[in-house]
Amino acid sequence: MKQYLKHDAWKIIEEGFSPEYNRISESVFSIGNGRMGQRATFEEQYSGDTHQGTYVAGVYYPDKTRVGWWKNGYPEYFAKVLNAPSWIDIDISFDGEVLDLAKAKVENFRRELNMQNGLLSRSFVATLPSGKKLAIEAKRFCSMADGEVGAIRYSITLLNASGHMSVILPVDADVVNKDANYDEKFWEEIYKSADADRAMVVAETKKTKFHVATGIAFLFKENDKIKPVNTCTETREKYAAIAFSTEVKEKVSYTIEKYAVVLSSENHKKDLLVSVAEQKLRNIKSEGFDKLFDAHHNNWLKRWEGADITIEGDIAAQQGIRFNIFQLMQTYTGEDERLNIGPKGFTGEKYGGSTYWDTEAYCLPFYLGTADQKVARNLLVYRYKHLQRAIENAGKLGFTKGAALYPMVTMNGEECHNEWEITFEEIHRNGAIAYGIYDYIRYTGDEKYLTEFGLEVLIGIARFWAQRVNWSADKQQYVMLGVTGPNEYENNVNNNWYTNLIAAWTLDYSLQAIDFVKQDDRAAYDKLIKRIDFKEAEESNRWKDIAAKMYLPEDSKRGVFLQQDGFLDKELLTVSQLRKEDRPLNQKWSWDRILRSCFIKQADVLQGMYFFEDRFSFDELKRNFDFYEPMTVHESSLSPCVHVILASVLGYKEKAYEMYLRTSRLDLDDYNNDTEDGCHITSMAGTWMSVVKGFGGMRVREGKLHFNPFIPDQWKSYSFKVEFRGRVIKVDVSKGSTDIKVISGDPLEIIIGEEKELA
Ligand code: BGC
Repeated sequence: MKQYLKHDAWKIIEEGFSPEYNRISESVFSIGNGRMGQRATFEEQYSGDTHQGTYVAGVYYPDKTRVGWWKNGYPEYFAKVLNAPSWIDIDISFDGEVLDLAKAKVENFRRELNMQNGLLSRSFVATLPSGKKLAIEAKRFCSMADGEVGAIRYSITLLNASGHMSVILPVDADVVNKDANYDEKFWEEIYKSADADRAMVVAETKKTKFHVATGIAFLFKENDKIKPVNTCTETREKYAAIAFSTEVKEKVSYTIEKYAVVLSSENHKKDLLVSVAEQKLRNIKSEGFDKLFDAHHNNWLKRWEGADITIEGDIAAQQGIRFNIFQLMQTYTGEDERLNIGPKGFTGEKYGGSTYWDTEAYCLPFYLGTADQKVARNLLVYRYKHLQRAIENAGKLGFTKGAALYPMVTMNGEECHNEWEITFEEIHRNGAIAYGIYDYIRYTGDEKYLTEFGLEVLIGIARFWAQRVNWSADKQQYVMLGVTGPNEYENNVNNNWYTNLIAAWTLDYSLQAIDFVKQDDRAAYDKLIKRIDFKEAEESNRWKDIAAKMYLPEDSKRGVFLQQDGFLDKELLTVSQLRKEDRPLNQKWSWDRILRSCFIKQADVLQGMYFFEDRFSFDELKRNFDFYEPMTVHESSLSPCVHVILASVLGYKEKAYEMYLRTSRLDLDDYNNDTEDGCHITSMAGTWMSVVKGFGGMRVREGKLHFNPFIPDQWKSYSFKVEFRGRVIKVDVSKGSTDIKVISGDPLEIIIGEEKELA
């Protein structure tokens, strides 16, 4: 855990340069706008430890799989989010001496990310080895108002000398992925050009053939007045730059404004990319930095209006929640149903920027609560569009007759994870996709979704479960062998309680969905079952039988559900018995030792109890929580939020609060020692759930909104808003009082605790 960032309600602040934490800061201070994003690397050259990263939504590369031993059924490739051409660099030198913070003495360093307006800024004084001292102020943003636009304002003042300054402003497509299986470069140049005031490179990804046009233009100013300069161009393969030199006077401020456009062939015709990018570049340069920034800022203000959560009395918690919401909003805006939410968003490459079960299990509630219903719907439609691929994916593993296995990791619907214990065995993800449909309909009431898209997906998933289980003559029940549950610290187990539960639930829910669609639109139903050759009587009878006779392991002595067969044979220790030096286990212990231990990576039985809370009594929940949580190391970022929600139900206020701080400040304080790889974007939605479903106790039951709020002792008050069926509801909780009202839309019956109220 590292605590070098200052606490502030709206800003993330690093004061004093900490090169040893630079990669962590580059992740934390990342900026983006749903279409593109980048790590907070420096504009000037930096020869110290850094990971330059720029990412464009939807642009990926199918990197050839690398495994120790090939197993039939492995995906051929692991899709990578691509480190894309960079537009941020501003290379500066004075009388031939390069400004490089790894070689200069750096004072008064401040890096700041203003979450209210998405502005990343930096200021510092650098003394070059020659003794020249200069002050720098840099500001940059990726426009929320126009996802293809970014801008930088970079000011330089020589403090103790005059001199000759040389500036190079490149577009650099000669970039590499940190995460590449064979150290290959993934981009080829298609086009480049540079002239007096603009440069452009169009790069093409190998194999996937995405085109990305990155163009830059600039303005140079002396004391805020435009100062014309003579420029020349520098080009080499995958690189185009504008360069100029000028005399600079002591204590006079010089500013470079660098304007950028990033257009991808996902959104424009390939043959028009250059001309559209050129036009856009001209427009944004003539608009200027301030106007572009105003539009960006206003867009952020509107987004915060609906999504902000305020916490009074605890600045660390306030900063934490805003950081999570900010990162989520800049990762996915919900405007494009082809996109989804990668576990690292635009902040790093690990996990490939692909879609995981995280979306349905963790992110969906955030978008349901803070955005128009169509945003969550788009996330579901994304999976509908991948259904055929999920059927092919199941086919590769030997399943037939329309059984669908959604991938654990995907960019385009194809599975691209290649650890056997996850690809083949972590099949519970299929259940989360069905649960996402249920969760969306429960929240919005949009049952029609079943008729339009939902049922077909459910049938595909149900068919998979029906083939994946087998009848145990010994138990006289259905069992599921050789799986990995959500707790990835166990592999190839039999009868993971959570997986069996969600499979049986999917079968039940699919049967209900069939009944609904039949009544809702018989013609649509008949058409669907004909198209997918659904043998209703035969298939649904089998589903009923499996759902009724699914084996769900439990230990009656302790009154707990068993994570899997044989769990009690383990040496049952608690995390408090572990030595500090052994944590995190995944970095300190061999995999073999982890697998044999009882330690749990993330909610597993408790994930099931969270999803299906209403099926369990308070005592059942308590017994299972008390049994499993003490063995849980929470080494998946997805773990603490589920525990906040359940601890809140149980009245374990301290535990709920401890877990809340852990999820909300996971990256800010680098709890798991891995923020340098990127931020944990999908778990950030879990932080939002921790407040709204955890402390606020929000649930939807039979179409009615329920709250059951409590306030952590450390807070004076908190408030949040949720969108619900055409209304906006504001919840204010302080010590001793709760105020819940509809602030826009029709009155609504809301249940607070056990009481019904009209808000
Ligand atoms: C977790 C998975 C999760 C993945 C991506 C892993 O560490 O165990 O549940 O889907 O990270 O966030």
